[in-house]
Amino acid sequence: MSTQEEYDCIIIGAGAAGLMCGITAGQRGRRVLILEKSNKVGKKILMSGGGHCNFTNLYSEPENYLSENPHFCKSAFSQYTQWDFIELVNKHGIAYHEKTHKDNDGNDIQKGQLFCDDSAKQIVAMLLDECQQAGVEIRTRCEIESVECDHGFALTSNLGNFHCESLVVASGGLSIPTLGGSGFGYELAQQYSMQVLDKRAGLVPFTLSGELKEMSSRLSGLAVHVDLSCRQQCFNEDLLFTHRGLSGPAVLQLSSYWHAGDEVAINLLPGKDVFEVLKKAKGVQGKALLRTVLTKYLPKKLVHECEARWFVAEKELPLAEITDTRLQEIADCFTQWVIKPSGTEGYRTAEVTIGGVATDELSSKTMESKTRPNLYFIGEVVDVTGHLGGHNFQWAWSSGYVAGLNV
Ligand code: FDA
Repeated sequence: MSTQEEYDCIIIGAGAAGLMCGITAGQRGRRVLILEKSNKVGKKILMSGGGHCNFTNLYSEPENYLSENPHFCKSAFSQYTQWDFIELVNKHGIAYHEKTHKDNDGNDIQKGQLFCDDSAKQIVAMLLDECQQAGVEIRTRCEIESVECDHGFALTSNLGNFHCESLVVASGGLSIPTLGGSGFGYELAQQYSMQVLDKRAGLVPFTLSGELKEMSSRLSGLAVHVDLSCRQQCFNEDLLFTHRGLSGPAVLQLSSYWHAGDEVAINLLPGKDVFEVLKKAKGVQGKALLRTVLTKYLPKKLVHECEARWFVAEKELPLAEITDTRLQEIADCFTQWVIKPSGTEGYRTAEVTIGGVATDELSSKTMESKTRPNLYFIGEVVDVTGHLGGHNFQWAWSSGYVAGLNV
């Protein structure tokens, strides 16, 4: 019989959740092994936040998450909060800042997003340092061939055979295969007859087709602050036109709620009564053209495209000659522009996978399977997905921590 290396706990995946779980379990004196298929750990952390890692959000709360059961995440968040992670970051002397955004009037506002001043590498180094201090072993380039229940769990791999009492699945979702995205966790859940909910790409750009795509391509690189809505969700953030369609924070946020075939409403001038603006201009500068007034509020290139779409007949008409009814119709075009994306860019560029291992299958306190004792699922593989802004890492830290306390 071939030899088996024995551990108390094996964690599959050395991403954000797996590393946090390993640290917590190791600190409790558990013998922990993390098996990672890639050549290095924490690849998504390294790539995140444009290389600065948006590691948490000051205002992270259950409302920032999508899940079949919106209450599921509460227990993990109450056991390990953003303040706990910030304390860890402070302990390691990592400098960070809260990102500044612009509101509708161009004023600076903050939304609680914390980024490293220097580099995301510091977060990975911090986690590896904590792993080392807690005696956690990590092996990379590990291809797991099989997982069997055997008074615990028996694993075979290209690096040998392993046995453990508790097994934690922290293999993430399908997003960005080149950064480790894989279906491993979902398949393992199904192997144990656990329910896996439908999955789709989230935090992902929209693709457009036909003349909308051509227009977006002409405006490529241009960003505007909008209200973007669909399915009773509305995000007030930047929208970015691209060669393939639409991106930017507003689009990424809404994409997590969007389903194929849905229409999306864009308000290009949020917070403004556009009809009142146009009517007032008609009163005080009746000789002006619509585009002259509108370019005070929107980029010239965009107004030019809107003119061709929505008020070509009034293109050269002075405001005084346009009826109020028409002004209202034109104003509505700017505030209620409805488009139908042809799709999303999919897992190739999505930041997250929506859906996954059903929360009904897991204990919200510990992340342990309700039907398979000592089997845990944490992080993105679970049906809990955060908004953009550091919320996804906070879920990884919190769910990893609570599992680490119990394995
Ligand atoms: P994660 O994907 O991090 O880790 C899973 C690990 O398991 C990987 O290392 C993978 O290689 C490994 N693995 C997979 N299959 C395996 C197998 N069969 N055997 C062994 N190992 C296996 N979030 C946020 O809050 N702030 C941000 O700034 C960003 N930015 C960002 C940028 C980009 C480009 C992406 C793609 C994503 C983000 N995110 C983010 C989302 C965030 O990265 C994500 O939610 C977490 O990394 C999820 O953590 P997990 O540990 O669950 O999975």
